[in-house]
Formats: sequence, structure tokens, C-alpha cells
Amino acid sequence: MEMGFYFYTACCFLVIFSKASTAIDTLFQSDSLIDGMTLVSGDGSFQLGFFSPGSSKNRYLGIWYNNIPMQTVVWVANRVNPINDSTGLLKIQSNGKILLLVQNTTAVWCANSTARVENPVLQLLDSGNLVVRDGKDSEPENYLWQSFDYPSDTMLPGMKIGIDLRTALHRRLAAWKNWDDPSPGDLTYGVELEGTPEMVLRKGSEKYYRSGLWNGDGFSGTPNLRSNPIFDYDFVWNENEVYYIYSLKNKSVMSRFVLNQTQSVRQRYTWNPETQTWKLFSIMPSDLCDRSGLCGPNGDCDNSKLPACQCLTGFRPKWLERWNSSDWSDGCIQSKPLNCKSGDGFIRIGKVKTPDTTNSWVNKTMNLKECRAKCLRNCSCMAYTNLYVTRGGSGCAMWYGDLLDIKQFQSDGQDLYIRVSASEAERQKKAKVKLAIILGTVIAALLGFLLIVCYILRSRRKLKDEVKDKNLNDREDKDENEDMELAVFEFGTIAQATDSFSFNKKLGQGGFGPVYKGTLGNGQEIAVKRLSKSSGQGLHEFKNEVKLIAKLQHRNLVRLLGCCIHGDERMLVYEYMPNRSLDSFIFDQTRRRVLTWSKRFRIICGIARGLLYLHQDSRLRIIHRDLKTSNVLLDSEMNPKISDFGLARTFGGDQTEANTNRVVGTYGYMAPEYAIDGLFSVKSDVFSFGILLLEIISGRKNRGFYHVNQSGNLIEHAWRLWEEGKPLDLADEFLAETGDLSELLRCIHISLLCIQQHPEERPNMSSVVLMLGSHNELPLPKQPGFLFYKKPFEADCSSGNDGSSSRNEISLSLLEAR
Ligand SMILES: *[C@@H]1O[C@H](CO)[C@@H](O)[C@H](O)[C@H]1NC(C)=O
Ligand SMILES: *[C@@H]1O[C@H](CO)[C@@H](O)[C@H](O)[C@H]1NC(C)=O
Ligand SMILES: *[C@@H]1O[C@H](CO)[C@@H](O)[C@H](O)[C@H]1NC(C)=O
Ligand SMILES: *[C@@H]1O[C@H](CO)[C@@H](O)[C@H](O)[C@H]1NC(C)=O
Ligand SMILES: *[C@@H]1O[C@H](CO)[C@@H](O)[C@H](O)[C@H]1NC(C)=O
Ligand SMILES: *[C@@H]1O[C@H](CO)[C@@H](O)[C@H](O)[C@H]1NC(C)=O
Ligand SMILES: *[C@@H]1O[C@H](CO)[C@@H](O)[C@H](O)[C@H]1NC(C)=O
Ligand SMILES: *[C@@H]1O[C@H](CO)[C@@H](O)[C@H](O)[C@H]1NC(C)=O
Repeated sequence: MEMGFYFYTACCFLVIFSKASTAIDTLFQSDSLIDGMTLVSGDGSFQLGFFSPGSSKNRYLGIWYNNIPMQTVVWVANRVNPINDSTGLLKIQSNGKILLLVQNTTAVWCANSTARVENPVLQLLDSGNLVVRDGKDSEPENYLWQSFDYPSDTMLPGMKIGIDLRTALHRRLAAWKNWDDPSPGDLTYGVELEGTPEMVLRKGSEKYYRSGLWNGDGFSGTPNLRSNPIFDYDFVWNENEVYYIYSLKNKSVMSRFVLNQTQSVRQRYTWNPETQTWKLFSIMPSDLCDRSGLCGPNGDCDNSKLPACQCLTGFRPKWLERWNSSDWSDGCIQSKPLNCKSGDGFIRIGKVKTPDTTNSWVNKTMNLKECRAKCLRNCSCMAYTNLYVTRGGSGCAMWYGDLLDIKQFQSDGQDLYIRVSASEAERQKKAKVKLAIILGTVIAALLGFLLIVCYILRSRRKLKDEVKDKNLNDREDKDENEDMELAVFEFGTIAQATDSFSFNKKLGQGGFGPVYKGTLGNGQEIAVKRLSKSSGQGLHEFKNEVKLIAKLQHRNLVRLLGCCIHGDERMLVYEYMPNRSLDSFIFDQTRRRVLTWSKRFRIICGIARGLLYLHQDSRLRIIHRDLKTSNVLLDSEMNPKISDFGLARTFGGDQTEANTNRVVGTYGYMAPEYAIDGLFSVKSDVFSFGILLLEIISGRKNRGFYHVNQSGNLIEHAWRLWEEGKPLDLADEFLAETGDLSELLRCIHISLLCIQQHPEERPNMSSVVLMLGSHNELPLPKQPGFLFYKKPFEADCSSGNDGSSSRNEISLSLLEAR
């Protein structure tokens, strides 16, 4: 019945807001906010009103960004009690209580003020905070209630996520269940106090991601965030409060931090005013090693290693068999038993995310030496580190028992000192000394060498100055600069761009390793070729490839953006080609129809021009040696771009043929003289181009000559049709229906010229380009270079091959290795 009373007062004081006066940010006792009306904060940043999320018809009271077209809700009042019609009504009572009513009577949500004042008003602030305050008092500290104390899934600048120890108010984010339902899902983010406070993302009861200890400058789990361009952040921890807070460096940039239930992640977005979209700025957990406790007790997770889990130095797997089979949950134990009484030692591991703080203890003023001494005294203390170093004082954190959830970083991170037996510590020390001696010797030797070089150079320069020949010097400088142009990416950048080489970012398996799609911080899309170590490509070949490609620039060649070297891993970063490779079109039953004859002809001409550039027009003379449909990529406009120059070799100007001790290439595309004798020349590329042409025209693969297939290979088939006088039967049926038949015939003719048995009879690429562009009479092709081989001695690599797109592309180097 009390509700009835509210209803009558509501009726009496109802003020109808007109659309024109929406820019009102305050609701007074006499007002009500009904569905269809909104409050807008003073500067127009945020709006409060009723909305329906996603495809739901339910109505919720919420706050969203006002001045962007995409409705982005940051707070919801009645998360668990949706309104099923448009009778929602918001009002504030004289006792400071906020009520959200349905049908004038039922309260679906309410909020109490902490104190009573004479004239409470409800106001939407520019920060997106909805507050109840005394109408006469606008001191921020004196809010009687604020929505920032009851966050939904979004953290806005100025909001505290954490615990007020005086009032036990726990401010914690909880994700929406899904796009249509803002009720709390099981993904939460907040401060956890056990042991030493840190931020924890939980999925249900599972600890999913930890921020790591606050070391005074940042969280040890995100060392790379410390100097970011968008926001400053702080973790406050005193006797009254423990909370995380952030503020924007540039107030006109919009940035929010939100939990995403469907992806089980914490994401930060920034608004991009140019594209009018939210751009993902960061994501947590961002890789395997961010997932809490992956490697078990005393494990060390390093995403750059395979497997990612290693035991900490001085530890060994508890159950070797399980550990070897990638079940790391049992973790590691000390390799040599500790002996606390007779004395243990510590070894330092650098650049880590500190262990789970549940069993930890912190003193903010103790220095590192005192910290070590204290840890050494207590036999259950297993590790320590120092904190607050850059904030004047020093600090000490120590851990008891097993060390959980340590992550290894590459470039930045906390130093952690872990307890090991005295003998282990001694061993490490010796190893270090040894290393230092070796390093010292090497450095000394280098210095001596440099001195000599300097001396020689100086005397040479003197000589040169006399001759006044500065040209050579200039040229040397220039060459050096050209080498420097290539971008070298940090491993962290690449790992982040590719979600740590996650499976769903994999584009395919190239000749020398998997290729991943990635998105750089600036939004640029890239393709990362992660060269597999087993490929046999040495550092030399890698550098060769990188330098070669970097120097080549042609519209029909894939552009290399840079490379990444990390330990003995090597990666190449290319521009991303949205339409993938040619084989994904021409050998696909439905996608082949996209490539009409005119498009295919354009692609053929593009490939020919790209190859001509490689053979003749570039400063270097480059033979591709592995030209095939999967090495021809297509950009968004279906322009062909040749990729994978890993196998290319440079030549001196007059050299046209060379003998190689290692045959590389793909069966089915290799010219006979190359496959048999290892002789390669530009003409072997011309042969491959001829095969490519046949495949583009016929839509069929030229299966390797070892392939069990009665109809023989494509070359045989094409030659037979040519001799029988019906060459056009070779063409994909649907091409013959729609294409320019004379052009088609001409291309078949050219392809047969390219695959002639003898290299010297094949045209070079400049003739091919001419032939493609003119209507002149062409010479008659001679018999092609069939490869009437029996299967190679190791047939197992192709047996059971069903002709799926990549299985039969086995390079010879593989066979040779046996
Ligand atoms: C709306 O919900 C109320 C209870 O909250 C219920 O009585 C009513 O039937 C519902 N109306 C519709 C249209 O579902
Ligand atoms: C709710 O109040 C409005 C006027 O504010 C009135 O028109 C309507 O009949 C009332 N609804 C109910 C269910 O009492
Ligand atoms: C508000 O206060 C009333 C009593 O005054 C209490 O019954 C109710 O649970 C409180 N509501 C909230 C959300 O604290
Ligand atoms: C803040 O951001 C706006 C919009 O992105 C930009 O125009 C302005 O120059 C920035 N101001 C500063 C001080 O960086
Ligand atoms: C969750 O993240 C994915 C990928 O970033 C995004 O597409 C989706 O819209 C997000 N969902 C919510 C509820 O924000
Ligand atoms: C586990 O792997 C290590 C190193 O690869 C090997 O030495 C050891 O024999 C393996 N142990 C078991 C039980 O598989
Ligand atoms: C922290 O360390 C300082 C200096 O060593 C000491 O005076 C203080 O008592 C310690 N505090 C605690 C809680 O142990
Ligand atoms: C060592 O630390 C543990 C955990 O804080 C504590 O329970 C124990 O009393 C300490 N032992 C000594 C000898 O200080």
C-alpha cells in the first residue's frame, strides 16, 4: 500500500519533459523520469534513460555515451529485474531513496542514500557517475549515493574498483550474461585481499587471471602498460581502502574498460572518432601464460617457448611422465632438497610476473637486504622481491610455500629471488662467473679487434683524403642504410598481434612454417610467417630472404613489412592479403566461379609481370624456384601478388644457370632439368609458370608425377588434347562458356610453350609478357617436359593422399633429408 502512496505523489508531481529540453542533468524530488525521456550530463558526455539491449524487448534503466552513434551502455540499474513494458518510471524521494517503478506501483530497483538531507537531488555527472547529493552541496566527497559504487561491467575513468575497508563496500565488475541480457554473468573482476591484495579476474569460482603484485609503478603482470599513451593508473592500498583507479591522459579521448562474458576476457576499448567505432586497445588474459596456474606449482610459463611451461631454475617436474605429456598441473619440486638449518641460497630470475599473492606478505619500507635476511630466517619463505623501488623508499614482498602462476616476460618485468639449496645456488653462481669470464674475454678480444680496425680505417681514410675519393664512402653508407630500412618487430608485438599465435589466427601452412594473421596496435593487418625450426632454413637463408624481399617492390609482389628474430625463432611479417591465395579459388567448387575468364587473364598477366620483374627488371636477378598457385596471393581487388621468396637465390649479372646442392621446390611444378639434375635457371621458373597457367585455365591441379592417378598428369592431358586438335577442352567448363575463346586458346598455347622439354626452347618472361599482350603468331610448341618417373623411393609421404590442397605439395628437400 505504501507503493500506492508513491504512485499518487508521483502523479501529482509528474513533469513532462519535452524533447527539446533533453539537456537536463538533474532530477528533483518533484520530477519523474519516464520511459522515452533522458537525463544528459552537463557537458553532454553521458545519457541516462531506458533502453533495450541487443535483440531483447525488455526495458532497463541505464547510462550510455551520449555523443557517439553506437549505443554503448556503461551502467545498468535494474540488471536482474527487467521491465517488460514501457511503464518504467524513475524518481527520488525526500528521504534520498531512488525508486524505479513499473506500472506506477511495483519497485523493480531501489537505492538508499547513506544520510538524510533536506533536499536530495539526483544528478548525472560528466564522468558518467549518477549521484544523489544535497541540492545545496556539490562537494564530491559528500555524495549520499553514487552509481560508481555499484558498477556493472564497465569501469570508467575515476571509478574505484576495490574495497572500502571501513564500510565493507565491495566494488566489483561483473560481465553481462550476453548481448541481450545485462544480468550478471559469472565473470567478475575485483580486488582480492587474501595474503597481499591484487586484482583478480574470476570465471565462476576459478581464478582466471591475476594482475600480479602492485610494485609501485604498475602491476607486475602488465609491465608494458606502464608507459601507455592513453591512461594513468594507480593501485591504492592503505588502512581505509584498497582499489584500482585510472584517469585519461587526454580528456577528449574516450576509453573504457569492460568485461566480456562470451570471450571470458577483460577488454579496454578506445573510441576512434575517424571510423566512429570502438577500437580494442588491450585484452586480458592475452596469452596462454596469462591464464592463472597453467604450469602448476613452481612452474614458469614462457609463451615464447615450446612447451610454454618450464620448471623454475633449481626445480624439476614432480611427475616427469605427466609433465612430458603436457599435463603440468602437478608442477615442479626442488631438484635438490633444501636444508634450512645448514643454510640455503637464493637465485634471481628476471622479468617475471610475481607469483600468486595468496601466501605472501609485504612490508612497504623494508629494503632488499632486510627482505632477504627475513626470508632466509623463515624456512617456509620460498621467494622474495623488492617493491616501491622508484617511489623513494623500498619495499619487500615474500612468498611462503609453493610459488604459483609465474609468467616470464621478454623485455620487462619484476626480479624474483627464489630459495634453492646452497649447492644449487653455488652451481648457478659458478655458471654465472664462468659466463662472466667468457663474456669478459670476448669483450676484451672485441675491443682489441676494434682498436686494430679503427687504426687501419684511420690510416686508410688518411690515404683516401689525399686522393680525395669520397665516393666509395658515400656508397658504403647508402648500402648500410638500405639494410636498416627493414622493420624489426619485437616478439611481444607479434605475439600480441596474433593472440600468441592462436589457432584461430592461423591462415595456413606455408612451405616453411605456419602463417598467422595478426593485427598490430595501430590496426594494421599483417600476415606472420613463423618459420619452423625443422625447416632447415638457417640464419643465413633467413637473412638472405629478408634482405631480398625487402629490396623488391612491385605491385605484383607481396610486400615484406619486416621481420622478427626471437631466440632461434624467425618470423617474417608481410602485408595481409584478404583474399588469401589463388588455389583457394581455382580449386574450390564454389569460389572458382568468382574468377571469370577476364579476371583470370588479369591474374595471369599480373603474375607474368611480377615474374618478369624478378627475372630481369629488379637490380638483383631472382629465380623464384617455388612458383605455384598457393604462392600467388590475392589482394582485396583480386590483384595477384607473388609470395614466398624464401627459396630465391641471387645471381651475378651474366649468370643464367647454376648448380645447386639442395633442391627445393614443389613436385608438379618443377622443371625436369631442375628436379633431375638440380639445374635451375630463369627457364625453370618459366616452366612453373606454364604449369600455373594450365591450372588456372583448367581449374585442375597438376598432381605430382608420383601420384597414383590413371588419367596421368595435367601436362600429359593438355598435350594430348593439343595434339588431338581440341585444346579448348582443357579449359574449365564455365570459362569456355563465358570467356574470350581466342584469348583462352592463346593462353593454352603460351603455357605449352613454357613447359617444353628443353629449357632453351622455352620463352623468357619478357617474351611471355609480350605474347600475352599481342595477337602475333606464336611458334608451335614442342613436346612438353613430361616427368615419366616412377614414384620416388619414399612413397609413404604421398600415400593416402586424397588430393587435398596442400598434402601433395611436398618439397624435395624433405626427401633429400632422409
Ligand atoms: C510483465 O511482468 C509482470 C510481473 O512483473 C507480469 O505480471 C506481467 O504479466 C508481464 N507482462 C507481460 C506483457 O509479459
Ligand atoms: C499510472 O499513472 C498514469 C499517470 O501517470 C495513469 O495514466 C495510469 O492509469 C496509471 N497506471 C496504473 C496501472 O495505475
Ligand atoms: C534500503 O533501506 C531499507 C530500510 O530503510 C531496507 O529495507 C532496504 O533493504 C535498503 N535497500 C538497499 C538497496 O540497501
Ligand atoms: C587530445 O585528443 C584529441 C582528439 O584525439 C586531439 O585532437 C588533441 O590534440 C589531443 N590533445 C593532446 C594534448 O594530446
Ligand atoms: C566481446 O568481444 C568480442 C570480440 O572482441 C566482441 O565481438 C563482442 O562484441 C564482445 N561482447 C561484448 C558483450 O562486449
Ligand atoms: C621426459 O622428457 C625428457 C626430456 O625430453 C626425457 O629426458 C625423459 O626421458 C622423458 N621422461 C619420460 C618419463 O617420458
Ligand atoms: C616493516 O619494516 C620496517 C623496517 O624494517 C619495520 O620497522 C616495521 O616494523 C616492519 N613492519 C611490519 C609490519 O613488519
Ligand atoms: C614463517 O612464516 C609463516 C607464514 O607467515 C609463519 O606462519 C611462521 O610463524 C614463520 N616462522 C617463523 C619461524 O618466523
